[in-house]
Amino acid sequence: MKIGDYSTMHNKQKILVTSPTLPPLEDFIGCVKEIYQSKWLTNNGRFHQAFEKALCEFAGMSCCSLFCNGTIALEALLSVTGLKGEVITTPFTFAATATAIVRCGLKPVFVDIDPLTLNLDPAKAEEAITENTAAILPVHVYGNPCQTQALEKLADKYNLSLIYDAAHAFGVEQNGESILKAGSASMVSFHATKVFSSIEGGAIFTEDPELKRKLDLYKNFGISGQASVELIGTNGKMNEFQAAFGLLSLEHLQDNIEKRQILAEKYRSLLKNVQGISLMPEMPGVKHNYAYFPILVDKEKFGKSRDELYEKLKESNIYARKYFYPLITDFAPYKDSSICRSEDLPAAKKAAEKVLCLPVHTELNERDIEMICEAVYWNY
Ligand SMILES: Cc1ncc(COP(=O)(O)O)c(C=O)c1O
Repeated sequence: MKIGDYSTMHNKQKILVTSPTLPPLEDFIGCVKEIYQSKWLTNNGRFHQAFEKALCEFAGMSCCSLFCNGTIALEALLSVTGLKGEVITTPFTFAATATAIVRCGLKPVFVDIDPLTLNLDPAKAEEAITENTAAILPVHVYGNPCQTQALEKLADKYNLSLIYDAAHAFGVEQNGESILKAGSASMVSFHATKVFSSIEGGAIFTEDPELKRKLDLYKNFGISGQASVELIGTNGKMNEFQAAFGLLSLEHLQDNIEKRQILAEKYRSLLKNVQGISLMPEMPGVKHNYAYFPILVDKEKFGKSRDELYEKLKESNIYARKYFYPLITDFAPYKDSSICRSEDLPAAKKAAEKVLCLPVHTELNERDIEMICEAVYWNY
């Protein structure tokens, strides 16, 4: 493939940034029939129980509490932990991270990111700690592990809770262990756009059985008995159809990750020498899930801005995603508040202006990746 080849071969079919991986329809229909026969549709049914058990086995962890989605799971975790005050987090994340903090009556304190990994910078986090800090909530952005050891030390030093938004990180391992073991608990999202999905869905993973007990209460209105409510909860339950879908999908996760790895390696080989395009660093000891393929576009060197490249790709029917853009601190509810200004977060601001996630999902093949890269070159 040479630079310029793409001009002769405009792509007719839409290539979307992601597409859900579905378990075989006949398998799902089998589960639906079973649910119909049992008429047990929700409230900790057979599939819910089996899914939690299978997830624990998969992650090598003792406790998992399923939820209707990751956002409610994170709210549940923040709520039952009984935190008060400030929570240090990253502005380079999806809106839900901050939403959960605010909806639990906590104050998000946004600190800058490491410009290489795009994850929360532990040194910046330490600078932001005050007597009001209750917790650190880092995000494994794109499934790339945060500096878990440095963050653990920080949490221990200042006696803070350390809980992770691992929405992107299901299936990721660091030094042979699930990344979900980091901190006291981790939230994962099983939304349809994720590497692993239960349509909508989410979970908290922890090794603390008392935390699991409270989470299970929280998602069922706090009900602890026929005539008792132990805590203020909500309706955050996962239903049997979602649980069955997730349980079946788990059988295909490894295959899904391997397919994505082939695509990611193709992207790396084709883009690594393109001036003005930076790729995420290789992380030794990490087994990735290849959830996303972000690139950073440097206008000076590439000749086009991220936004120009995004539009050009769209003209070729290639739908990349500016993810994460804008920064949380530039969203209306945060922008005019005193919480933090994006001007004080230069690495995050730069990343949000340059980042573009290229399509990656299991319906694509290596030829599609070549075509996308040709489109990038052609615009170059
Ligand atoms: C970083 C991050 N946190 C939280 C969430 C929320 O998860 P859910 O969509 O399952 O509510 C997402 C979803 O995309 C996410 O990307």
